[in-house]
Amino acid sequence: MITFTLNGRRVSVDVEADTPLLWVIRDTLGLMGTKYGCGIAQCGACTVHMDGQPVRACAAPVSTAAGRELTTIEGLSPDNSHPLQRAWTELDVPQCGYCQSGQIMSAAALLSRSPRPSDAEIDNAMRGNLCRCGTYPRIRAAIKLAAQIQ
Ligand code: FES
Ligand code: FES
Repeated sequence: MITFTLNGRRVSVDVEADTPLLWVIRDTLGLMGTKYGCGIAQCGACTVHMDGQPVRACAAPVSTAAGRELTTIEGLSPDNSHPLQRAWTELDVPQCGYCQSGQIMSAAALLSRSPRPSDAEIDNAMRGNLCRCGTYPRIRAAIKLAAQIQ
């Protein structure tokens, strides 16, 4: 049994220790906002926070979550009021949407450590999150808007 906190709620899961965290979040715990893209830590679609740091849930064994605090896109705010969520809506960032929860979780970790990020900081924090639809300009604009309104 592996126990951790997920979006403020303590959960225990009875799974193999090497099960990818992404499968536990999606299949065992039923939170579908975190996406499977590449499965090899290359695209960022599965980004969640572990103790406030962005991690690739597809490549993290669930055992690494034991005793930690996890946040998924569902836990970012109770009512979609996080500044990034408001900025994303305001600027109509998503196209197909598949990559976007991972984008927002990476951006949220960035704003937590750097509330007014420079362009270089944004590029550095977001370069591992791929978007096949090419929404990068809107993502950058939305991060800047969120920094202003938070
Ligand atoms: S699905 Fe995890 S990084 Fe691509
Ligand atoms: S919005 Fe389609 S992959 Fe990013």
